[in-house]
Amino acid sequence: MSDLDTQLDELQKRFAAALAQATDERTLEAVRVAFLGRSGEVTTVRRTIGALPPNERPAAGKTINDAVEAMEGKLLEAASSLENRAFETDLAQSIDVTFPAIPAQTGSIHPVRRVIEDVATYFARRGFAIVVGPEVEPDYYNFDALNIPSDHPAREGFDSFWLTDTLLLRPHTSPMQIRTMQEHKPPVAILAPGKCYRRDAVDARHLFQFHQVEGLLVAEGIHFGHLKGMLAGMCRELFGAEQQVRFRPSFFPFTEPSAEVDTTCPKCKGRAGECNMCGGSGWIELGGSGMVHPNVLREVGYDPGVYSGWAFGFGAERIGLTRYEVDDVRRFVNSEPEFLKQLQ
Ligand code: PHE
Repeated sequence: MSDLDTQLDELQKRFAAALAQATDERTLEAVRVAFLGRSGEVTTVRRTIGALPPNERPAAGKTINDAVEAMEGKLLEAASSLENRAFETDLAQSIDVTFPAIPAQTGSIHPVRRVIEDVATYFARRGFAIVVGPEVEPDYYNFDALNIPSDHPAREGFDSFWLTDTLLLRPHTSPMQIRTMQEHKPPVAILAPGKCYRRDAVDARHLFQFHQVEGLLVAEGIHFGHLKGMLAGMCRELFGAEQQVRFRPSFFPFTEPSAEVDTTCPKCKGRAGECNMCGGSGWIELGGSGMVHPNVLREVGYDPGVYSGWAFGFGAERIGLTRYEVDDVRRFVNSEPEFLKQLQ
């Protein structure tokens, strides 16, 4: 065996031993640099070729190259076996597929929206169109066309946010009665949900921004009984099978006769007594209603001698308070997801 062979043989043995010691990528790389790197041991051996007689140099070069090839092969093997080992460790530690999954955050529908959707579904099933309109209205739609002339005290009752002399944030959804009737010939049947605004001080029962659901039915031969039947049905759907409705005489310039609508207190079922939901009366107020005033019908070009109709406007938050037995309307807007999620 030539000197060179012995030298390379010894080098390869040390190389193999060093590889066997390498436990990760970093130590493996250090072994590569020490033996096969530019200033590694193989390079030192290569330099000795210069000292050989010229006719022996090619054979020596080939011997070294063969040795390097063999070492590079071992290095690759060592790298891939390290990788396999890391992968196996990963696999062994990784996933317990039987472990219960972390539930996805799905959010929930806001209770006021739920109320609006349920009311809308009830009326949609009975052939009513669901319509929405602007929240900024000219006073014409909000007052004049609803039989409230500019000097009428009822305007003050609506405590509105005025944006200009003639534009305001609508304090009720009744402008949608006018918009619908001006656009469509009778018969019309709509439910108009939406936001309303009033300059009310915020407390347990009032927000300055709230929602109403407005209903309107105008056709030939419509009478108060139709209103009562529809609302009784709606209350049974929202609150339960035993619900009743009652009407208390009231006043709105755009309906005649007018009435406030109450429904059986869903908590005490009308038994009253000490009930903290209805204050002991056995009834919960939903909002206003009545037969559409002949002046309103005339304003939109309907003949009051032929057509008649009813309308109502209820507060969605008010219905929500009752339905979900919430004691303070502010809880609907206080951004408490954990609280709101319970009200389904
Ligand atoms: N718009 C009235 C209010 O907000 C409610 C109402 C609607 C009354 C329709 C009668 C008919 O107070």
